[in-house]
Order: sequence, then C-alpha cells, then structure tokens
Amino acid sequence: MDASDVIETLPIADWRGPYDPALQVRAVDALEAGCVLLFADLPFRPSPHEVFLLSPAVMGSERKNISFDPATGELGNTSLAGIEADRLRTMLRRFGDAAEALLRDLLPGYAATVERARTSFRPAEIAGREYSPRHDDRLLHVDAFPSRPMRGQRILRLFSNIAPDGAPRFWRVGEPFPDFARRFLPGTGAAMPGSAWLWQRLGVTKGRRSEYDRIMLRLHDTGKLDAGYQAGAPKAELSFAAGATWLCFTDQVLHAALAGHCAMEQTFHLPVAAMTHPERSPLRVLERLAGHALV
Ligand code: SIN
Ligand code: FE
Repeated sequence: MDASDVIETLPIADWRGPYDPALQVRAVDALEAGCVLLFADLPFRPSPHEVFLLSPAVMGSERKNISFDPATGELGNTSLAGIEADRLRTMLRRFGDAAEALLRDLLPGYAATVERARTSFRPAEIAGREYSPRHDDRLLHVDAFPSRPMRGQRILRLFSNIAPDGAPRFWRVGEPFPDFARRFLPGTGAAMPGSAWLWQRLGVTKGRRSEYDRIMLRLHDTGKLDAGYQAGAPKAELSFAAGATWLCFTDQVLHAALAGHCAMEQTFHLPVAAMTHPERSPLRVLERLAGHALV
C-alpha cells in the first residue's frame, strides 16, 4: 500500500467556500471511497491569548484528550478554571465553527442532516505513552465507542495539526474497510440475548446498542488485539505537517495515530442516507457480508 492510494489532496486554502463544484464532487467521492482528504495548507491559528493553551499542562488526568460539547459549552478533562477555561472554550468553539463552515460548503449534500458532535483538543504527545491495547490508538482500528450507539450513522472527523513547534502528526492507515470486515466479521460472534436492553437500562449506553454497534465494537477490539494483523496488515504511513488539516470517515478508514501533539478535532455524525454512495458505508458493507439487516 502507498500513501498516495489513500490520500486525496485538495487545493483548499480557505475555511469557507464557495468552492468549485468539481472540487465538491472529488471531495465526496474520495471521502466515501475511504480516503483521507488532505488540506495541506489550511492552518487553524490560535490567537495570541490562546497560545498558552498549547501545552499538555491544560489537560486533566482522566483521559487522553480535552473534550468540548458545543451544545452545552461543557469542557471535559481540563485542569483549567475561570478565565483560562473560557479561553479554551472559545478556541474550541471557533475551531468547531470553522470545521462546520468547511464541511457545509465543501459537502453540500451532507449539510441538511449532518450533526455537529464533540470537539476535542489533543495537546499530549502520543508517542511513548502507556495504554492498554484496547485504548491504544497507535494500533490500527476503526472508531466505535462503547457508550454511544451509532445505529449505522457515520463518524466523520476533521483534524488540524496546530503544534507550535512544527511537529508533524504521524498516522498509519490500513486496508479498505470491506477487506478488514471480511477478515474479522466471522470472529465477532453473536449478541447475548437481552444484553443491549441491559446496557441501556444500566446506563452503559446512551440509547439501545444495535447489532451494527456490537459488531463495530468487536471489530475495533479484535483488530487491535490481533498482534499478527497489526504487524502484517497492509498499511501506509502518513505525515501531517503543522498547519495541515484533514478529514475522513474514521468508522471506515483503518487508522492509527503514532506520534504528534497539539491536534484539534471536530466530530460530525451523518445519516447513511445523506451519502452519495450509501452502499460504501460500514453498515451496508457489513449487512451485505452478514446477509441481513443490522439495525
Ligand atoms: C484516533 O482517532 O485514533 C486518534 C487520531 C489522532 O488523535 O490523531
Ligand atoms: Fe480512532
């Protein structure tokens, strides 16, 4: 595999459109085919008041990242309070606004139904930290989250490298989703009767976990825990320079983040029906392989 197979570089230097219609078509086709859209020179710039935020010291100790909920304004996992926390909130909201403008102008077919979810700031260096394999995003995986059933909805994420020292962010990406799914679907087993109901009752999940969600979680875990796969699977190395921004469906693109610090990230949720090629969604791929509906 070669990085050029999975990267689609788009000549976009502005967070707002209007963009050339030919570019819009290229963007949606590449994205839905499982490519990473790269905007090589689209920096997100912190203001002078925000530069102090670009440090792992602003992070709490509970998790890997700082999160921001645009609906409530709530910050998760920060050590900051008062006016400093306000500065962080402002920076995260501005990034989310920019990400949303880009998405709406570049992918007009998504605009009506896309949902802006969490924003995150990832100040800590990835390399050299200790994680359990299941939580180690340096291993190839597709995104699937235990507490948040997606019921087939897509996870679309926009990242921006804002490292003040210019450090690149290194990723690895893997084989196309259908190949990965064919390899690991047979090992995902069957649901325990009543378990989805129980997880919901116990408050483990927000809403009922579908068969799709159960399979995606199993793919996430069994892929990460398979050392032979991690070592031998097809992969390509990507390097995102400081000042670069990139976008991909992280529930489809097998990815691993190997090194880097100070990235911004905005998550969007998208119904399968909004896609130009819904048959390429993980939901439809898995349903074809399984031979029945999964939500
Ligand atoms: C991930 O989604 O696995 C991590 C991506 C990153 O932080 O660069
Ligand atoms: Fe991930």
